[in-house]
Amino acid sequence: MFDLKTYLQTRREWFEKQLTSMIDRPMLGSGRLVSAMKYSLVSGGKRLRPVLCFAASEALGGDIELCIPTACALEMIHTYSLIHDDLPAMDNDELRRGKPTCHIAFDEATAILAGDALLTLAFQVLASDPYALKEPGLILRTIEIIARAAGDQGMIEGQMRDMESEGKSLDRIGLENIHHLKTGAIIRASVTTGALLAGAEDEEFEALDRYASHIGLAFQVADDILNVTGDPALMGKATGTDVSLNKATYPSLLGLEQSIEFARECVESALSELARFDERADPLRAIATYIVERKR
Ligand code: IPE
Ligand code: IPE
Ligand code: MG
Ligand code: MG
Repeated sequence: MFDLKTYLQTRREWFEKQLTSMIDRPMLGSGRLVSAMKYSLVSGGKRLRPVLCFAASEALGGDIELCIPTACALEMIHTYSLIHDDLPAMDNDELRRGKPTCHIAFDEATAILAGDALLTLAFQVLASDPYALKEPGLILRTIEIIARAAGDQGMIEGQMRDMESEGKSLDRIGLENIHHLKTGAIIRASVTTGALLAGAEDEEFEALDRYASHIGLAFQVADDILNVTGDPALMGKATGTDVSLNKATYPSLLGLEQSIEFARECVESALSELARFDERADPLRAIATYIVERKR
């Protein structure tokens, strides 16, 4: 029987070792900027996006070592998005990953700059991937997928719409689009880059992309639900904030019960996309379920 808890822990710890060795290079210099980058990056996150990248590669029998730069870049972009998401001009949060948010621990200017630098470093890491010497086309495509997912065709457009939605009532499609963009896009990129680096055939790539789209939506619906029902001590971030900010969320639109039901339906849809894969996709299967059952 596949044991997700052990799998997540093993992959997370291995990933964190790679990440640490990457950011401890002298190229980063030292000082306040680097301290803020490391403060936000080094501990506390679930590392779901890197783990998804590895798990997608494993599902196709790929070598997860080849995913290391991509996984590090994805986590750097995710972390930068959290630093900026927490700023006073955005969600104005003071707790993240169990610690004071970057702008509280440092200051607003430093938090903005640390986010900028993490985003930039992510693309430096991708562009210096040693595997690019052997497979330049593959790495270029990886960079394109991640750039597209992170920018105005993905996460940032989602964040813009999320901000614009405050105090407004959205319809279901409008809300679903926000969630696909602000959270789903990077989750999709995590899975599809892992698939690509494992040499996915077109049909495998498409099926894994659809899997990721379903779990990406489920992930943000669960995040909305946890903002109402979760335990801040477990989650390492505040709850009740979506209501205070009048955010458009699934619980506000559908109520809690129906939101939970919908998140589970998304997971079922995700699982059905994995039907063609063998037991090497078990980590992806277990992660899909975990995404809606999680407490943090
Ligand atoms: C939180 O992401 C922000 C969203 C996109 C919902 P995670 O719940 O993955 O946060 P960490 O990385 O574990 O802190
Ligand atoms: C975060 O969405 C999405 C990104 C950071 C791109 P939320 O604002 O809902 O996430 P939390 O609840 O603060 O982690
Ligand atoms: Mg937000
Ligand atoms: Mg937020």
